Amino acid sequence: IVSLLFTSHPGGGSGIGRAVCQRFASEGASVVVADISEDSANETLGSLSHDLKGQAHMAAVVDVSSKQSLDKLVTSIQAHYFQPPSVCVNAAGITQDDFLLRMEEEQFDRVIQVNLKGSFLVTQAVAQALVACGAPKGSIITVGSIVGKVGNIGQANYASSKAGVEGLTRTAAKELSRFGIRCNCVLPGFILTPMTDKVPEKVITKMTSLVPMGRMGEPAEVADVCAFLASDDSRYVTGISIEVTGGLFIG
Ligand SMILES: NC(=O)c1ccc[n+]([C@@H]2O[C@H](COP(=O)([O-])OP(=O)(O)OC[C@H]3O[C@@H](n4cnc5c(N)ncnc54)[C@H](O)[C@@H]3O)[C@@H](O)[C@H]2O)c1
Repeated sequence: IVSLLFTSHPGGGSGIGRAVCQRFASEGASVVVADISEDSANETLGSLSHDLKGQAHMAAVVDVSSKQSLDKLVTSIQAHYFQPPSVCVNAAGITQDDFLLRMEEEQFDRVIQVNLKGSFLVTQAVAQALVACGAPKGSIITVGSIVGKVGNIGQANYASSKAGVEGLTRTAAKELSRFGIRCNCVLPGFILTPMTDKVPEKVITKMTSLVPMGRMGEPAEVADVCAFLASDDSRYVTGISIEVTGGLFIG
């Protein structure tokens, strides 16, 4: 990744997003940490290295489920850096688990709004900005989940949203390739983050026993794959999903 690479990471305030911001900053990127939580975004901002010349990070508040909020973010990024982000990793996501028989309509809608509609709005806002300024290339990475492929008890809303982001990404890849914009997904398995902190201990033990590599993943292990998809090492890769699962559910 070149030092002028400029990245934007909705959901960067915590867990996987934070690890992505840290990895990209260590590569010399100027990073925009965007999160619905201002405190989390600022905490991540404070953890970023800025040893390389020309690096200038910023934190911003965004709600990925709001077009207005994203437009405001992209405008403020362009005012700050005089260019749109060349790389965007959308790691914003929520869960509201319940069994299908009990799930409220609002629980379904909110998870779809943030995880699926949010991914559409992020992809659209960044792609529109890149195309409008005639940028030669861009890489948009969406954090899906292995659960979108295999389903998961208690997660009808979440699994649907994560299956949806893969269809979105494949479509975006087809439409945006002619503008030099690549779109890919990473599909984490079971990663140690504040999101998995909510999972009961006995479920953690059971899930870990299903992972061929015998352990949960680290956020940095997801960030490393994002770094590959952001870099020119993946310049002929678009519309795909890379599983980062330690072999969970490979068949
Ligand atoms: N942790 C795992 O095991 C795992 C597995 C598969 C997929 N994922 C996915 O990885 C991504 C990151 O999850 P994580 O585990 O780091 O969780 P996390 O809760 O630590 O991070 C999610 C971040 O998204 C932010 N966010 C929530 N709603 C938002 C909104 N409307 N707008 C902007 N930001 C918002 C939160 O404030 C938080 O900082 C999510 O998309 C999640 O679904 C996680």
